[in-house]
Amino acid sequence: MATQEIKINRRVAQLVGSTTLAITARANELKAQGKDVVNFAAGEPDFDTPDSIKDAGIDAIRKGMTKYTPSIGTVDLRAEISKKFKHENNLDYKPSQIVVSCGAKHSIFNIIQTLVDEGEEVLIPAPYWVSYPEMVKLSGGTIKYIETTAKAHFKFTADQLQKVVTPKTKLLLMNSPSNPTGMVYSRKELEDIAGVCVKKNIFVMSDEIYEKLIFDTNEYVSFAALGKDIYDLTITINGVSKAYAMTGWRIGYAAGPEAIMEQIKKLQDHSTSNPASISQAAALQALKEPPEKIKAMVNEFRKRRDLICAELDRIPKVSYVRPEGAFYVFCDFSKVGPSEQIAKQILDDVNVALIPGEGFGAPGYMRLSFATSCERIQEGIRRIAEWIKAR
Ligand SMILES: Cc1ncc(COP(=O)(O)O)c(C=O)c1O
Repeated sequence: MATQEIKINRRVAQLVGSTTLAITARANELKAQGKDVVNFAAGEPDFDTPDSIKDAGIDAIRKGMTKYTPSIGTVDLRAEISKKFKHENNLDYKPSQIVVSCGAKHSIFNIIQTLVDEGEEVLIPAPYWVSYPEMVKLSGGTIKYIETTAKAHFKFTADQLQKVVTPKTKLLLMNSPSNPTGMVYSRKELEDIAGVCVKKNIFVMSDEIYEKLIFDTNEYVSFAALGKDIYDLTITINGVSKAYAMTGWRIGYAAGPEAIMEQIKKLQDHSTSNPASISQAAALQALKEPPEKIKAMVNEFRKRRDLICAELDRIPKVSYVRPEGAFYVFCDFSKVGPSEQIAKQILDDVNVALIPGEGFGAPGYMRLSFATSCERIQEGIRRIAEWIKAR
């Protein structure tokens, strides 16, 4: 049989597969063999979606809400998101400025593809969420990383930003609280960064998906709310995945200047159309939930953050910066060995799944998710400590 050479589109061909998925696949293999695997690899809350939200989804099916909705999301959901922005973030976004998509990941994808052209520069602070660079590669844009250090708490400064900007700089990707570092920028730090963006006329994508998961302050500062000028340059991203334990429902949203959102709408019209109608009904209920529901989950994550840090303190070779948000602690394992190799060995030898830092632009580091119970946290860190000691 003649074999035909398969020529893949060059932008797709250059994409890098997900390390997270490789570790998760191996962890599942071990579990299937009956091994007791401690999972520090999870990128999602281990809580179940609250019943009231599930019921809203089930009701939607029963009521026949099983047809296409407007491509950018139902009028009701966008009105509720608009209210959320006003009440929680002091942001004025009309429903016509909001596009609901299949998860925040899809919202971010839409923005990057819509704003960035061949040769334009996108600034990505490192360490970064694994999908940002791949999305920029697909757009044809050029990636410029802004390196940060543990000493600087993995935050970049306005000065650093000023230095990397060129006439080709189009977009800055902000993510606070951060995956993978758990860092949260203060109002002052954000104001200084916003000042440079306004002066240099750079668009900002502010990924606020972990907004609700902050541990040491009650104030969350939304980037676009810092002033009128920065509002005009910012597209705000949020969603229900992390705050309401709804990762599988796939609802995220973006809000920004009307002229940009209209273009995003066209992209969505001709690619996915609307996110699932049933999930939209569930997300509408999520946004109406009393804040106490989320508080219980945040309190539990705070307790686990405190526990995992205390446990890690007992491993002399491993250091970390105490996370202030999200549910990850980003650890320096460089004194132990090369992170990708170490992650594989730890998984095989003592059955603990960690994500090596390479995929986040930080070789030598490991991301440990504390979206697991206190007992499992203690057990997992105990195994890692013993493994390092025995080396
Ligand atoms: C920083 C960051 N942004 C966006 C997302 C995507 O969230 P969603 O599940 O809503 O697509 C994630 C998920 O892991 C994330 O960590």
